[in-house]
Amino acid sequence: MKPQQILFVCLGNICRSPMAEYVFRHHVKQAGLGGTISVASAGTSGWHDGENMHKGTQKALAAHGINHSGFTSSKVKPDDHRRFDFIIAMDDNNLAELERLFGRQPEKIFKLTDLIPESGYNHVPDPWYTGDFEETFRLVDVGSVALLDKLAG
Ligand code: 4NP
Repeated sequence: MKPQQILFVCLGNICRSPMAEYVFRHHVKQAGLGGTISVASAGTSGWHDGENMHKGTQKALAAHGINHSGFTSSKVKPDDHRRFDFIIAMDDNNLAELERLFGRQPEKIFKLTDLIPESGYNHVPDPWYTGDFEETFRLVDVGSVALLDKLAG
């Protein structure tokens, strides 16, 4: 398998995309693909640049036995479409902003929920507003398994 670079994107890069980054990396390591697939996350806003992930995201990861150390929030960069093989949005607003920056590239830039139509969700709910980090974890976890199947399958 050739090396693949994955970028998860949300608005603030403190709730959903850091959760996706750490959950997906966990699955990648468990599948023995840590040397092949690398994972990062970023936000479209830059509002929380330099901060750690949200405490609720840390708690949800810890509750599922997933490491959450070493995170720093950052904004999407203008050359990210060259640095990453897949750029995966959490909702339609993230996707619209990514398409504004990089153009429409549906094979490369899409929503995580596009991979899990059976979930009944068309976006990953934002716990910044819902307060439900566990719901977001469940969706990100199922989406991560689907993404790994897509890449490794
Ligand atoms: P995220 O959630 O995009 O999943 O990181 C949010 C975090 C912060 C804000 C909005 C959403 N905010 O308004 O600061």
